Amino acid sequence: MIVSIDGPAGAGKSTVARSLAERLGFRYLDTGAMYRALTWLAKNENVPLDKGATLGELATANPVDFDEHGRCFIGGKDVTAAIRRAEIDRLVPVVARHPEVREVMRERQRELAEDGDVVIEGRDIGTVVVPAAEVKVYLQADPEVRAGRRLAERPEIGADALATDLRLRDQSDAARMRPAQDAHEIDTTSLQVDDVVDQIEELVRAVHQPA
Ligand code: CDP
Repeated sequence: MIVSIDGPAGAGKSTVARSLAERLGFRYLDTGAMYRALTWLAKNENVPLDKGATLGELATANPVDFDEHGRCFIGGKDVTAAIRRAEIDRLVPVVARHPEVREVMRERQRELAEDGDVVIEGRDIGTVVVPAAEVKVYLQADPEVRAGRRLAERPEIGADALATDLRLRDQSDAARMRPAQDAHEIDTTSLQVDDVVDQIEELVRAVHQPA
């Protein structure tokens, strides 16, 4: 069974998706980490970020992988920590907007999602990557709350810069960021992580009978 969780940065996707996967005994797939890893590799190999075809080839030649602990690898390197830097936050949308990149990434995401139960987190999972997902969720939250959550994760950046980064990223991601028609929208502004996970777990249990 596939559960998709989409939504903007700071809506709580990663925390919720990880916790839900753990509760249900499902695998967890973070598609944002994949775009981040490609961005890191492109920077590292000095590939210009405006060259969609070249970036697509780079992605094809270097499929992103995760180990059982959720560590992220590209080109044989563990990039788990490196992809969470502010510089990567800012550059990912520039890489992620190229159709050539998205095509390769989406194919890899479907490959990694194959076999068994999985919670997949991203921006376009319920709409494009796996439109057949049995449960689709779209998380939303007020911009100030999203910025506040991000600040807790990235205290080194500073509140103003972070709010600006988030706004710019929302604008670049806007074209791909919308709920699927059959997605359950949850506003997490005033909810605790566990409350959100409870709600989604209920949706999953309603359609999923464990073997
Ligand atoms: O955790 P956060 O929401 O900040 O970011 P992320 O999920 O790691 O995604 C980072 C960036 O990757 C997003 O801002 C998008 O530009 C891109 N992305 C995408 O285009 N499609 C996805 N399915 C996931 C991420």
